[in-house]
Amino acid sequence: MTRIYNFGAGPAMLPTQVMEKAQTEFLDYNNMGAGVIEISHRSKEFDQIINSTDALLTELAGIPSNYKILYVHGGAQMQFSAVPLNIINRNPSQKATFIETGSWTVKARKEAARYGNAITAATSADTNFDRIPEFDADSLDDDNSYAYITSNNTLFGTRWNSFPDTGDIPLVADMTSEFLSRELDINQFGIIFAGLQKNLGPAGLAVVIIREDLLGHALPITPSLLDYQVYADNHSLSNTNNTFAIYMMSLVLQWLKDEGGVANMEARNNAKARIIYDVIDDSDFYLGAAQPAHRSMMNVTFNLANNDLLDDFLKGALENGLYALKGHRVVGGARASIYNAMPTAGCQALADYMAEFERSNS
Ligand SMILES: Cc1ncc(COP(=O)(O)O)c(C=O)c1O
Repeated sequence: MTRIYNFGAGPAMLPTQVMEKAQTEFLDYNNMGAGVIEISHRSKEFDQIINSTDALLTELAGIPSNYKILYVHGGAQMQFSAVPLNIINRNPSQKATFIETGSWTVKARKEAARYGNAITAATSADTNFDRIPEFDADSLDDDNSYAYITSNNTLFGTRWNSFPDTGDIPLVADMTSEFLSRELDINQFGIIFAGLQKNLGPAGLAVVIIREDLLGHALPITPSLLDYQVYADNHSLSNTNNTFAIYMMSLVLQWLKDEGGVANMEARNNAKARIIYDVIDDSDFYLGAAQPAHRSMMNVTFNLANNDLLDDFLKGALENGLYALKGHRVVGGARASIYNAMPTAGCQALADYMAEFERSNS
């Protein structure tokens, strides 16, 4: 079979080697005569899988020893509830400050407002989130329980290039659409979370990296399966977790390690994005949606100067094996999501198609 280049925002393409390994092992994991989804989450075989996932993640992301790795149900949006439930009570003010860079931050803020005082300190809504707004971290009041950002904005195609220094106030970052795509200093964050479905594996589960001192502050109403302390105390296995997703994540992490780790992947990702941004910047036919200084390396958003050509553009792309390039409805136009597993050849194929489409329609 020929695998398409899948530019969908998520669930997104996984490395072919990972899919093949999972396929080979699906019926018979490690000569057990059973597949991973058929064995207990408390078996010694699964124990090895979750331990190796932890170890690979610790190594690849450089997670310091005072942080815990949790595998939490419900994907990324569930963390929009879990984060305030777990830490908004750190201060009696029950206050959290959001820097809004797109719909995902707005949703997270609305969810937090159910449990405390959720404030917006800066937003780029006035320019349809085409940039990261100016924000002075020194302006944060000390009584904030946390400050919150979305590090990469999947819909709008922007990202924080560097992160605000919030001092003693824990910085929480939704990194769903870029985790492990660039090097990071985990110490800058109190909590990082990411749904698996872009750079890590299947949808439905989130990985949460939390500094240990932030555990143990959950509001009394917190359901135990959203209480990060319960996850930390039980190695994320207080109930039957999504064992298959954790297994898939271990394969993706091993692949990332084999590819030379996050530093190599970051260089590759920058070069991949450049290939597409160059086509946009060299033409009046395509218009980049994000301000150049704030561009994402994972989600390249653009419009056609003549929007009437968009349907033909998307149809032709599909005929060339370039799948799911339609932009999100709130931004319009096109979006190429080029996560870690998108090969350079996929970006080149898109750039070639864009150049050809421009030639034949100018
Ligand atoms: C940045 C970001 N946050 C949250 C989500 C929501 O993820 P989930 O569907 O796992 O709740 C997405 C999904 O696309 C996302 O891109």
